[in-house]
Amino acid sequence: MSRVLFNPFSERFRADPYETYAALRREPAFRALGMVVVTRHPEVKAVLRDRRFSSALIPMLVERRLQEFGMRCPEVSELGKKAIVFTDPPDHSRLRRLANRTFNEQGLQSLRPMAAQLARDHLDRYAREGGDFVRSVSRPLPLKLLLSWMDIDFGHMETVAALNHDVRYFLEPGVVTREQFAHVYDSLKQFLDFFRGYVAPRGERPGDDFISLLLAPAGAQDGFTPEEVAYMCVMAFVAGAETTQALLGTALFLLASHPAEYGKLLSGAVSAGQAAQEILRFEAPLQMTKRLALEDMEVAGVAVRAQEQVLLCLGAANHDADVFAAADTFDLGRGDSRQHLGFGYGAHACLGATLAEMQLEVLLEELVRRQLPLAVLEPPRWQKQSLIIRGLQSLLLDTCSWETALEHHR
Ligand code: HEM
Repeated sequence: MSRVLFNPFSERFRADPYETYAALRREPAFRALGMVVVTRHPEVKAVLRDRRFSSALIPMLVERRLQEFGMRCPEVSELGKKAIVFTDPPDHSRLRRLANRTFNEQGLQSLRPMAAQLARDHLDRYAREGGDFVRSVSRPLPLKLLLSWMDIDFGHMETVAALNHDVRYFLEPGVVTREQFAHVYDSLKQFLDFFRGYVAPRGERPGDDFISLLLAPAGAQDGFTPEEVAYMCVMAFVAGAETTQALLGTALFLLASHPAEYGKLLSGAVSAGQAAQEILRFEAPLQMTKRLALEDMEVAGVAVRAQEQVLLCLGAANHDADVFAAADTFDLGRGDSRQHLGFGYGAHACLGATLAEMQLEVLLEELVRRQLPLAVLEPPRWQKQSLIIRGLQSLLLDTCSWETALEHHR
């Protein structure tokens, strides 16, 4: 039954995957689309922390696709080996340890004032100009924060956004045609070259930015090579820009369409931090991730063979009623939101989670500080380009009364 229901390509699923997820969760695991699909919270979590599953699946699928297309793309193969998200131990352990030089709590929290400033500036402008909230606010904020972290001029934002949008398609090799692949490959080379242009000078005159901190300090036993730093920059944008964009747009839509919940935030009954967790649970910006079984085993009663693909539905796990009370209810005050798997779990749990949460929190804090009324002007459109990201293509908010509210609370 589940096999028939599960079609992640369908319009209906994209508009509302949760009805399908609820049906799928009746079976702890099942085979569909040539994979083993896992939807319940305990089983998804168990696979994420199980070392018998490899994260190197996507590069393998990409290589397979390149062979099919008769293409040779050395940088793509390197991306597979160097990108932290696709590596297994011991390579992954080394990359993760080195990444902590800049992805540590103190370093990430130091970006909060910049994140808050960006949120204020973009909300101010949106209040004056209105239009599409995604294009004007949720898209530029994460791009600019990452640029600022890397000490790269905001003037490069559109170039970086376009290259990043192309390169992100490597995460979904199954939906890319040969022509698109050639274009995506070209974008990857340009993206790497762009960062290489910053890595070399920072090696000579280091600052306290993302790139300088990742470069091996003089005399260090182990450190990222300049080339690895360039790949790390690509990875930060690929992993952190469109996901956070999705989170910010969805957040405003959810709050606008649940006035009583938004009221709790405005009145201070729930904090921005609490609200952020529920938003991440309710609409996980990254709905799915994949693993490759390294040996024969059993997952939730289903026999999985070595080299089989396993699809982990994070969005479905976040609505598992055995873990979250009234799971399909958006409730900012609930006590169990933090158990969400929106940032994954285990060894590969999101390195940028604090950064993404921070950007949402400062945006929510600005809404509260200025007591901005939220209302949507027309039903939002969910993006259709990516199968794994859940975010809005556009969001039109009614900003008629915003300017007065902003004047009042400036
Ligand atoms: C709302 C925004 C975000 C969401 C929903 C998200 C989600 C995730 C998830 C689910 C994973 C685990 C993938 C897996 O195990 O297969 C992950 C990993 C990762 N994320 Fe995020 N992420 C977000 C923002 C960011 C940001 C802002 C950055 C950095 C700038 C970032 C960097 C990474 C990296 C480097 C990894 C790989 C970690 C590893 O393999 O050890 N993410 N993210």
